[in-house]
Amino acid sequence: MLDKAETTDLIAPTPGLTGGVRSASKHDSGPKHVTGEAVYIDDIVEPYGTLHLAPGAATIAHGKIIKMDLSKVRSAPGVVCVLTADDIPGTNDVSPAHTHDEPVLPDGIVQFYGQPIFCVAAETREQARAAAKLADIEYEELPAILSIDDAMAQKSYVAEPHVMKRGDSASALASAPHRHASRMVIGGQDHFYLEGHVSFAIPQEDGDVFIHCSTQHPSEVQHNIANVLGRPANAVTVEVRRMGGGFGGKETQSMQWAALASIVAIKTGRPAKMRLDRDDDMIMTGKRHDFIVDYDVGFDDSGRICGADIQYAANCGFSADLSSAIADRAMFHTDNAYYLGDVEIRSYRCKTNLVSNTAFRGFGGPQGMVAIERIIDEIAITLGLDPLDVRTANYYGDDGRNMTPYHMPVEDNVLPELTRDLLASSNYRQRRAEIDAFNAQSPVIKRGIAMTPVKFGISFTTTFLNQAGALVHVYQDGSVHLNHGGTEMGQGLFIKVAQVVAEEFQIDLEHIKITATNTGKVPNTSATAASSGADMNGMAARNAARTIKDRLIAFAATHYKVGAAEIHFVPGRVIVGDVADISFAELVKLAYFGRISLSATGYYATPKIHYDRETASGRPFFYFAYGMACSEVMIDTLTGENKVTRVDILHDVGQSLNPAIDRGQIEGGFIQGMGWLTSEELWWDDAGRIRTHAPSTYKIPACSDRPEDFRMELWSSGRNVEKSIHRSKAVGEPPLMLAISVHRALAHAVASVAQGKVVPALNTPATPEAILRAVLRLADDTVHIARSDSNDRQEKGARSAAMAGVSAPQAGA
Ligand code: MTE
Ligand code: HPA
Ligand code: MOS
Repeated sequence: MLDKAETTDLIAPTPGLTGGVRSASKHDSGPKHVTGEAVYIDDIVEPYGTLHLAPGAATIAHGKIIKMDLSKVRSAPGVVCVLTADDIPGTNDVSPAHTHDEPVLPDGIVQFYGQPIFCVAAETREQARAAAKLADIEYEELPAILSIDDAMAQKSYVAEPHVMKRGDSASALASAPHRHASRMVIGGQDHFYLEGHVSFAIPQEDGDVFIHCSTQHPSEVQHNIANVLGRPANAVTVEVRRMGGGFGGKETQSMQWAALASIVAIKTGRPAKMRLDRDDDMIMTGKRHDFIVDYDVGFDDSGRICGADIQYAANCGFSADLSSAIADRAMFHTDNAYYLGDVEIRSYRCKTNLVSNTAFRGFGGPQGMVAIERIIDEIAITLGLDPLDVRTANYYGDDGRNMTPYHMPVEDNVLPELTRDLLASSNYRQRRAEIDAFNAQSPVIKRGIAMTPVKFGISFTTTFLNQAGALVHVYQDGSVHLNHGGTEMGQGLFIKVAQVVAEEFQIDLEHIKITATNTGKVPNTSATAASSGADMNGMAARNAARTIKDRLIAFAATHYKVGAAEIHFVPGRVIVGDVADISFAELVKLAYFGRISLSATGYYATPKIHYDRETASGRPFFYFAYGMACSEVMIDTLTGENKVTRVDILHDVGQSLNPAIDRGQIEGGFIQGMGWLTSEELWWDDAGRIRTHAPSTYKIPACSDRPEDFRMELWSSGRNVEKSIHRSKAVGEPPLMLAISVHRALAHAVASVAQGKVVPALNTPATPEAILRAVLRLADDTVHIARSDSNDRQEKGARSAAMAGVSAPQAGA
């Protein structure tokens, strides 16, 4: 069969076909999201007798439970059962990587403040929540490790440290013309999905269970719940129609809630629902890892890096979860777009008495990249160069400058072209000159601009996860039932895969029924993660559709006595040589009577990738996704207040499967990244208690925070040199890192306080307080301050005193 995507590189939607690939079809649930008709798990009509669960939380960060009297909980109104570690029928473990370090409910030892230590099931959710507060618990406290520095000092790790290297970084540093060393503190991030964690377990015959779960990883929930229940995997079915956002937070952390709901369902024979309250969700589930990065770089007069020594310490929390893979991905993105010369990268995975941190859009990549982007700016300031020139001087190139620290050559680099195109459309050079001129005469308000690239590796770095499956049925009327292992979390995966199938059969999208992900239909799936949902499930679904199509062609060839090459699927119709021109549905009907199977599975395993973690070398990524952003900001040096005034983005999605969805992902990812880097500040007190556990204290971007002038384009020259699904590129995570340009623009504005000659050690998040502190530090460090007005200074002093009183963030500047 002729493969259009592989041979002709379909560049536009197929004329006459509605909703094929490359069409800007709206999200299949878009109207339902808006009207409220989209069914989330808490909207499912509850069967009679449904029980509601609430977790009981620990009130220390680390210690032994020496007494747990739950009698008042058990006798509270409406309470039907109370679970402790003793009630777990199978293995008390929901650790994803089989590290056996994550109990469903702890057996005696508390590992973080807020850890669920028992669970109440009652007739109503309010009754369960009220009862959960009545426990009488005594602890013997143990010393708690609450910071990365403490964990490093005590060598407290959840996994072994890991090293990547190329060449001899020590000699390269020693002989470098210039050298710069510093430390960057990078904050975490709460997922703040609109729908929190929720699981609804319905008991079945024979002690089996069916679970509606808000998870990115139905198969892992299935396997873990089977272990927890002491049953085989085939006793557990997990279904996910959609999530109200996952962002990585539901890659592994859905397990505990599904486990509790399932145990109650099995124990009581009644449906059981566990829906976390927002505050509990923020207290009890992991976040983006906060990092400390210590670095030492050597560079020449042009700003080219010749050697680098980079050390990461990631705050993993109390258990391993996905931390090893996340810390690895930070290492894989240490270089971002740059050839680092001789380099050594070390990574420590710190174990602390805090909630276990987990996947979050970018999966460690953002933490790796934000550090190198600050380093580049520091080199530029040291040498008095435009940071963009230092960036381009360090871009991967040919002649021996294309090898990553993990020994994978970069063969698809489009950043020089992307940079050229964005330079032209953003007018960066002229605007930067204008901004510097503005800053020179503006004592209080300062502006900043920065242009930063993104290069993001696509594939799970855990190679075996790069596989996917699909199931396609064609019914006698020509309508299609589509199922695959990917989950929908708002990112538009379902519509993209449906478009692929519409294109394959050449039928309008409306004939394809998108159905809930279900472990009973497609087994042994990977998490929908690593931005590879459409790449992998799109291919699997195309393969399934192609199997059916090939059968239809073979049938028609026999039926009409023509050669297979004479049969063409065109929009809505099938042309059989000059013998017949029939609708897809008519051919399907004939094939059914001809006793042809109209159902098929499809499978896909990403080609070309391999990685040897022992030697830290190989090809972990099928390809790279690229993007470039130019952000302009304004800060008030008296208050630290700031806003993003203009953003220009060019992003490479290859040849888009759906430009409307891709644009949504780029805008959303950028804003989410902006939140991480500017306003979302997590803060724990000295007892290890998170104090930012609600929107009142944790500030995600609001509509009013969006850039006043937001210009985003899919890069028109975008292409994928690899044979990805219709030559598209993954888009889910990479755009988040475009927001690093905002952080760098803020740093540019801050640096202007010292005429751009002193490096502002701006950490993340760059909250108003952090910006103010950075401004004050620079102003104090500088002999010549632009502002000489003494009233200004008095005001500044008073404000800084006030600010010091209200904030002492762990991750602040
Ligand atoms: N977009 C929305 N609306 N909601 C989400 O939860 N998750 C992101 C990204 N975009 C997310 C999202 C993350 S972390 C990933 S890995 C990808 O979507 C996963 O989906 P994909 O592989 O289909 O792109
Ligand atoms: N990305 C997202 N999730 C993952 C990965 C990855 O690279 N590896 C394992 N889980
Ligand atoms: Mo995304 S962090 O890979 O779920």
